[in-house]
Amino acid sequence: MIESIYSPAEGRYEAGMQYRRSGRSGLLMSALSLGFWHNFGSISNFQNCKEMIHCAFDNGITCFDLANNYGPLYGTAEETFGRLMDVSMKPYRDEMFVTTKAGYDMWPGPYGNWGSRKYLLSSLNQSLKRMHLEYVDLFYSHRYDPETPLEETLQALVDIVRQGKALYVGISRWPKEAAEFGYKYLRERNVPCLCFQGKHNLLVRDDTSIDTAAANGAGYVGFSALEQGLLSGRYLEGIPEGSRMARREALTPDRLTPELLRKLQSLNELAKQRGESLAQMALAWVLANPKVTSVIIGTSSVEQMKDNLRVLQSAPFSAEELDRIEQILK
Ligand SMILES: NC(=O)c1ccc[n+]([C@@H]2O[C@H](COP(=O)([O-])OP(=O)(O)OC[C@H]3O[C@@H](n4cnc5c(N)ncnc54)[C@H](OP(=O)(O)O)[C@@H]3O)[C@@H](O)[C@H]2O)c1
Repeated sequence: MIESIYSPAEGRYEAGMQYRRSGRSGLLMSALSLGFWHNFGSISNFQNCKEMIHCAFDNGITCFDLANNYGPLYGTAEETFGRLMDVSMKPYRDEMFVTTKAGYDMWPGPYGNWGSRKYLLSSLNQSLKRMHLEYVDLFYSHRYDPETPLEETLQALVDIVRQGKALYVGISRWPKEAAEFGYKYLRERNVPCLCFQGKHNLLVRDDTSIDTAAANGAGYVGFSALEQGLLSGRYLEGIPEGSRMARREALTPDRLTPELLRKLQSLNELAKQRGESLAQMALAWVLANPKVTSVIIGTSSVEQMKDNLRVLQSAPFSAEELDRIEQILK
């Protein structure tokens, strides 16, 4: 069968997507980014991956978030991305903002983990090959390394930009003091940190990182806004077959305690009163903070993505609704 060539929706920039400036920079990010942590690895169906990236791009999502070890298996989400570039996305490279990271275990031995210059530079070279790219738009230090001098990790980020392998750099999951040191170090070398990536959702708050990033002129990109699916309708009636929890991929059934389930059901009632799905309301709550530049969604189907895209039509929260949310979650 001859595959038809992908033509993106002509109205993709008028489909309702918001574009938010990342801190004090020239860079606008789509308020929703598409994440490749799960659902894009070698165990995933390539046709589904293709449909999801097309749906994202057709709806104005310009930001695509990867890391060296996304899959499963490690490295294979970047390989899938490379295939997607080859089959349909390459003509649109300049409309895309592509990010990758290194910081977690990737290959055996002392040079495939944490924050050394050796690891970060080698890893990015590998990522570029897998993704079929000449450069990424942003490269993140994926986590704080307590053993490596911060200057070494940060100087590697500076040099990555100087070598033209990334246009911007960012940090993810760094504690406050290290992040503040990082913002200053990078600013003084004229490679300002574009954004901080952290987990912020109704159940797990990251206000300190958000405020610290904003105070230092960096944006904030949020991940796991649905707490891996808990903050969607996915688990309200049990654990569906094929779900992340059923697959025990980073989300295990012990998380779904009767107490949490009661809270999720109450949140779902509130979402219904707002005329929204729980996922839509949970995303709207994160995006209600103007210091949040983008929220990375991770979907396993086009249907989930379309549900999540409806957040762009969400009404602002009333003070009563925000108060009700805090009452439910306390
Ligand atoms: N910097 C870091 O350390 C870090 C860490 C984690 C994630 N991230 C980034 O953030 C991205 C998102 O993280 P995440 O995957 O944990 O995000 P998430 O949005 O909290 O969870 C995504 C999962 O929730 C379910 N889901 C999503 N939308 C749904 C809907 N409308 N209805 C029902 N279920 C829905 C799907 O689960 P099923 O698979 O069960 O369908 C999906 O795989 C990652 O891909 C990655 O790019 C970064």
